Amino acid sequence: MNMHSKHTADATTVEEGLAIAEAQDKQYNDEMATETAMANTLLTPRFYTTDFDELDAIDVSSVREDWDKLIAQMVSDPNKGHFKKNEDWDHVDWDGMDADLKKEFIDFLISSCTAEFSGCVLYKEMKRRGNNKDITQLFQLMARDEARHAGFINDALREAGLRVNLGFLTQKKKYTYFRPKFIYYATYLSEKIGYARYITIFRHLEANPDHRFHPIFKWFEEWCNDEFSHGEAFALLMKTDPKLTSGVNVYWIKFFLTAVYATMYVRDHQRPAFHKALGVDPDWYAHEVFTKTSKLSEQIFPITLDIDHPAWQRNLEKLQKANVDLANAGNPLSKLAAQARCAKAFLALLLIPARSHKVPASTRLEPVY
Ligand SMILES: [Fe+2]
Ligand SMILES: [Fe+2]
Repeated sequence: MNMHSKHTADATTVEEGLAIAEAQDKQYNDEMATETAMANTLLTPRFYTTDFDELDAIDVSSVREDWDKLIAQMVSDPNKGHFKKNEDWDHVDWDGMDADLKKEFIDFLISSCTAEFSGCVLYKEMKRRGNNKDITQLFQLMARDEARHAGFINDALREAGLRVNLGFLTQKKKYTYFRPKFIYYATYLSEKIGYARYITIFRHLEANPDHRFHPIFKWFEEWCNDEFSHGEAFALLMKTDPKLTSGVNVYWIKFFLTAVYATMYVRDHQRPAFHKALGVDPDWYAHEVFTKTSKLSEQIFPITLDIDHPAWQRNLEKLQKANVDLANAGNPLSKLAAQARCAKAFLALLLIPARSHKVPASTRLEPVY
């Protein structure tokens, strides 16, 4: 089969999607070698690996009804063919774009592409290593979606003369080992916060279309629905073992909630021109996304963070400023001082008392935002 004629959006399996991406890598590598190499230095999202045997041992029979419904919906594949350019893709004037905006937007696209691909690699590996039919089927479906998402962002980057070389990334990126339970917390949250981020931008641009400076935002609604389903799957996985969301693990949940929210806050504040172009105040945006994510995570987590506590915003700002100083630190001593301020602010966030609530008997939610 000639892979050049097919698009990642139409791939029905992750293997097919990655083969298409690889063919594109080969095709574009010669002409864009320098830019691709440069793009690789900007990547921040991590790649993960875990104990795949432990994950493979999960028995979903206690959530069977919800599980089968969710899988059936993913198998029906409502977004097949969606993630590619069509007549709604307006011309992008990359040369006319404000230089700061262009730099920040490209950084946003590259880090989003890497995050999508990081999910793809982890899910694909689980699918490859597992024998449990429920688990391998779920991970195959999620990897399929993430390969499409990453492929679509690469389409957008290519118009700016850039490309994230996915094959290169798979081999060269460092992998961080997380125990399965940490994978559940981190991945569940990243899927749900991804949904909340995409839908908040989509709704904002629906109401303020003059701020839509790039066509990719038009695709965010269907996009976030994929992430929503992925989050639902992790919620059901956690539901199979009540220990994961009780006892000492509640402290781990709090840690992950704080880390994921704080990371988002700090990263978004590194892109002022991007948020200005969208007409979005990053503090408003952060609070909006945290509110939605907290509401959603009540489906499985017994606590939510008190994001309206006065110490919350104050310490987020301290953390962000310390991070800026850390990046600009000229000598080891000022670097150490900035790191200490980061740690102190993060600890202060962590020590804000959480809100507790009763987790509903039924886990499943629908994307309503
Ligand atoms: Fe995705
Ligand atoms: Fe996802």
